[in-house]
Amino acid sequence: MNSPTPLNKYSFVLRMLHWASALIIVSLLILGFYMADIAPDASNKYDLYPLHQAFGMILLLLILFRLPVRIKGVHPKPAPHLKQWEHTLAQLVHILLYLAMISMTLSGYLMNSTYEYSQGIKMFGLFTVPDITPKSEYWSNIFHSIHSFFAWSFILLLIAHLAGVFKHRILDGKEHDVLQRML
Ligand code: HEM
Ligand code: HEM
Repeated sequence: MNSPTPLNKYSFVLRMLHWASALIIVSLLILGFYMADIAPDASNKYDLYPLHQAFGMILLLLILFRLPVRIKGVHPKPAPHLKQWEHTLAQLVHILLYLAMISMTLSGYLMNSTYEYSQGIKMFGLFTVPDITPKSEYWSNIFHSIHSFFAWSFILLLIAHLAGVFKHRILDGKEHDVLQRML
C-alpha cells in the first residue's frame, strides 16, 4: 500500500491522506463554529449538524487508516538544511496535530453517542453509525468541552504548522522548501 518513497517526498498514500484530511478539517472547523453559533431557538439550528457529524466520521476513518501508514511506512529523511531545533519543533507540531485529530474526532463521536436524543450518526442517508455508549448528560457535556478546547488548539497548531511551512518556503529560499515534500 505504502509504495517505496523517493527520499525527499512523503509516499503517495500519505500525501493523499494529508490533503484530504486537511480539506475536511478546515471545513469542519468553519462549519462547527458557524453551526454552534446559531441561536438555540432558530429553526435552522440543527440543519448543518448531520453534515458536520458525517464528515467528522469520515475523518475518523481516514485517521484510523493514516496512523498505521505513518507509523509503519517509509518516510523521507528530515528536510536537509533544517536546524536541529527547527526539525524538533516541526516534529512536535506534527505529533500534536495527530493528537488533535484523534481527540477532535473521538470527542465529537462520544459527545454524540452520550447525548440523550442521539440515534446514531446518519451517513448521508445511506446508513447509520450506531451510538456506542450509555446516554449521559454529564459525559456529553465533558466531551463537548473537550471538543471546544481542541477546536481552538487545532487553530493554534495549524497556524504554527503553516508558519513553519511558509517560513521555509518563502523566507529561507528555494533549497529549504518543505512544501515539495508534501506535493
Ligand atoms: C477533526 C474533526 C472535527 C473538527 C475540526 C470539528 C470542529 C468543531 C467545531 C469548531 C465546533 C464548534 C465548537 C464550539 O463552538 O464550541 C464543533 C461542534 C460540534 N461538533 Fe465537531 N468537529 C470535528 C469532528 C466531529 C465529529 C466526529 C462529530 C460527531 C460525530 C462532531 C460533532 C459536533 C457537534 C454535535 C457539535 C456542536 C456542539 C454544540 O452544539 O455546541 N464533530 N465541531
Ligand atoms: C488541518 C490541516 C492540517 C493538518 C492536520 C496537517 C498535518 C500534518 C502532519 C501530521 C504532517 C506530518 C506528515 C504526516 O504525518 O502526514 C504534515 C506535514 C506537512 N504539512 Fe500539513 N497539515 C495540515 C494542513 C497543511 C496545509 C494547509 C499545508 C500547506 C499549505 C500543509 C503543509 C505540510 C507540509 C509541507 C508538510 C511536510 C513537512 C515536512 O516534512 O517538513 N499542511 N502536516
